[in-house]
Amino acid sequence: MKGWISKLRTLSLFAFMVLILSACGKENLTSLVPKGYGAEQSFNVMIISILVMIIVFVVVMAIYLYVILRFRRKKGQEDDIPKQTEGNKTLETIWTIIPIILLIVIAVPTITATYDLADTSDQEDAININVQGEQFWWHFEYANEGLQASQDLYIPTGEKVYLNMESTDVIHSFWLPSISGKMDVNPENENSMYIEAYEEGVYWGKCTEFCGSSHSLMDFKVIAVSPEEYNQWVEDMKGTSEQSTPETTTAQEGQELFSNNCLQCHATDANQPSAGPNLANFGDRTTIAGVLDYNKEELVNWITNPAEQKPANGMLDAPYLEEGHIGNEEAEKIADYLMQLQPSEITPESAK
Ligand code: CUA
Repeated sequence: MKGWISKLRTLSLFAFMVLILSACGKENLTSLVPKGYGAEQSFNVMIISILVMIIVFVVVMAIYLYVILRFRRKKGQEDDIPKQTEGNKTLETIWTIIPIILLIVIAVPTITATYDLADTSDQEDAININVQGEQFWWHFEYANEGLQASQDLYIPTGEKVYLNMESTDVIHSFWLPSISGKMDVNPENENSMYIEAYEEGVYWGKCTEFCGSSHSLMDFKVIAVSPEEYNQWVEDMKGTSEQSTPETTTAQEGQELFSNNCLQCHATDANQPSAGPNLANFGDRTTIAGVLDYNKEELVNWITNPAEQKPANGMLDAPYLEEGHIGNEEAEKIADYLMQLQPSEITPESAK
């Protein structure tokens, strides 16, 4: 009785976990529903491997069950020794050749897909984006346009976009499961891969190499819009400037505070390189620092206490935190300034 209760307890715990964990997934954060070229190739190879495994499992189990039932020891045969088949050439040949065939069935599509995805011969004519992994955010530089962006990467659908990736600190790994495979982002060399999204959408990405205290918070998004919308977005971003004056007084005061305390590292002009994340279209974001809900309260918390939200991040060295002259009131003004930075009609909403 006791055994049954403990079994039931384990079972209900598993059922509960399945229920909870199945609700954890974000949309477009799975390699099982491929929506881009690389992800589709990987998915096909995965299906072939799984089919081979299922066939092997079914055949082996069928033979196993047949043998168990057919050759059971019967009454009166206790001392019989079955016929020995050791060294049977036909059997040895069959069970050597079958695995070789199965391995070829898996290897050919795998190697073809690997070479296909590694082929960068058309890179020069494509959109090129330099990606930098940093603790714990992503810097995107549109090489053809000289535009800077962070966290949200806008791309056109149906086109190859080359990502040339390097890290400024430790090893990261770029993973966009619905669109492509993974690629290591190393400090000492550049790795390139291309992504291609079939349909418009917001695709979530993750860092998949342990890179420090906030590794699990190093999320990013790829926003795939139509080629026309993409061109519009590029034009709008080119028009951004540090000088543009906000409408409200608090946002204007925020701009002043931002210039004095944040501009050393950040930029609100997409044409300007910066050491920290470029915030030119911050008002169009749907998350703060990649992982926090997008609202003023979270933003004020983030500005005043970034260590709590994302331990060991690069912003903790900012002089304003040490000097302590950005309180809640000042942070609210900065938030007002940042949240009105909406240079383009093209936003994550456009990708739906
Ligand atoms: Cu970057 Cu993990």
